[in-house]
Amino acid sequence: MKGIILAGGTGSRLYPITRVVSKQLLPVYDKPMIYFPLTTLMLSGIRDIQIITTREHQHAFQTLLGNGHQWGINLSWCIQEEPGGIAEAFSLSEDFIGNDHCALALGDNILFGNGLTRLLQSVRTPKPGATVFAYRVKDPENYGVVSFNDQGIGIDIEEKPQKPKSNFALIGLYFYDNQVVKIARDVKPGLNNEKHITDINQKYLEMGNLQVERLGRGFAWLDAGTVDSLHNASAFVRSVESRQGIKIACPEEIAWYMGYITNKDLEQLADNLMASGYGNYLREILMEQNG
Ligand code: DAU
Repeated sequence: MKGIILAGGTGSRLYPITRVVSKQLLPVYDKPMIYFPLTTLMLSGIRDIQIITTREHQHAFQTLLGNGHQWGINLSWCIQEEPGGIAEAFSLSEDFIGNDHCALALGDNILFGNGLTRLLQSVRTPKPGATVFAYRVKDPENYGVVSFNDQGIGIDIEEKPQKPKSNFALIGLYFYDNQVVKIARDVKPGLNNEKHITDINQKYLEMGNLQVERLGRGFAWLDAGTVDSLHNASAFVRSVESRQGIKIACPEEIAWYMGYITNKDLEQLADNLMASGYGNYLREILMEQNG
């Protein structure tokens, strides 16, 4: 299974903050935003990940993340010249995907909750079709919206409908079999001349091959694409982290927890991060494990 993070776009809903800085590099409390989708994929057990950025910002992402080997993963890079839509990710990454299944994570989505790792690992096992996740929100009109029949099966998907048929938004994390490459090629540009991810999901739905997993109340799904949602996401991360003394979306910790790096690797990563308290945290989790 390959992973893709889509971290392009103009970030215009965050202007002027994103005039010179990519949205997905902005801080969400104590970490760059891209750490969140990246660790979601790492927790799913995905270690080959392509990051799609704008040409302007690619270098900054590379400076931050490198080739991923420090965290036991392989990162590769791709440029989206114009925001041609989320569905374009699969055409841009066609060579990278090859004959594999793949997961797409949007660069501004944050997912947190009890049982998340178990859930992610269960959908990672390649199976035919697609798996998407629905989350109850109070403003479904701002998202892709899925409605369900009496048996709880997803029966209809619409992108940002004026009159949503349900309160369930589709979050920015999608797992597909290899058919997605062909399906994405055939998607026609729609509103704003973009290729919409909803058209891909609609196609899987028509084929009877779309699994919609509902995320319950115990999960938090946030996107950080506007000034208020970015602030709320930072406040959420700060509350949980300071109350529990844990870190959310810490790639060093997750790489270690998943067995991608050794105790010694973690110790070395910690040494380089001592000035901010981040390094201390890594040392603490090591010490806790070693008693
Ligand atoms: O956040 C979940 C929602 O994401 C879904 O419910 C919607 O169905 C889906 O269309 C999408 O809606 P958004 O309005 O949030 O999409 P947005 O245009 O903001 O793009 C999401 C991320 O993808 C954002 O971080 C920028 C990046 N992006 C977007 C486009 C259109 C790109 O990198 N390239 C693009 O061409």
